[in-house]
Amino acid sequence: MSAFLQQDPSLSPKDRLIFALDYPGLEEAKKAVVALKNHVGLFKVGLELFVSAGPDVFKAIAENSGCGIFLDLKFHDIPETVRAAVRAAAAHRVQFVTVHASGGKEMLRTVVDHCPKVTKVLAVTVLTSSSREEMREIGMDGNLDILGLVLQRARMAKAAGCAGVVCSGAEVRRIKEQAGWELIAVVPGVRPEWATVQNDDQTRVTTPRQAMLNGADYIVVGRPIREAKDPSQAADRIVGEIKTALQDPSAHP
Ligand code: C5P
Repeated sequence: MSAFLQQDPSLSPKDRLIFALDYPGLEEAKKAVVALKNHVGLFKVGLELFVSAGPDVFKAIAENSGCGIFLDLKFHDIPETVRAAVRAAAAHRVQFVTVHASGGKEMLRTVVDHCPKVTKVLAVTVLTSSSREEMREIGMDGNLDILGLVLQRARMAKAAGCAGVVCSGAEVRRIKEQAGWELIAVVPGVRPEWATVQNDDQTRVTTPRQAMLNGADYIVVGRPIREAKDPSQAADRIVGEIKTALQDPSAHP
């Protein structure tokens, strides 16, 4: 079956766009929330913003928008420590939280078993910025097949009860074919054809259209919106591309 037919029809194209709030502080983040609240579905809070602003950022998003929150701190520690961190995140009613699949099945299972239903646990398979050369440098097999590793980690995450995975748009179809279409796929490393990003560190990139056609449920976009002349217009353009991909998959992009 085509990937697009499997996606949850209750989610609108806007609901599927997650904007990465990669800002140095609360004030900049608040401004972006106000400017983009009607143009995206969720706001992603990552390391930089959380370290500088702390949980006040959740309040700022809730008070200034009706959007969901994706807490992307990519936890990786012993099972008990990650379990406690994820429970603390769930107390803020965040919709998604990330943990590294490389932390192992026991860690993932412990986290999922103790995570309140309000929050969904997503496993990060392999960072979309990782290249084979980089994997070799950190001691992985020189012949390592990144896709094989991604698939192995996705199957493990599913077996541990994770709601979904974070993966590249090029891998999503294979992941869903192997681990199940109900696994939520959140895809970063998204670059619209018209976007220019300075000093881009993403390597395994896809366009919004490719990601959706491959079966992504959500896409995460940061710099192509943040660095655009008109960020809300850039977000709308991406939502338009998501919509076209889902409604008319055979159309020319
Ligand atoms: O600016 P850009 O569109 O590259 O932002 C992508 C966002 O997604 C960043 O906040 C990055 O931390 C996050 N992310 C990623 N790759 C992953 C998981 C999260 O790029 N595997």
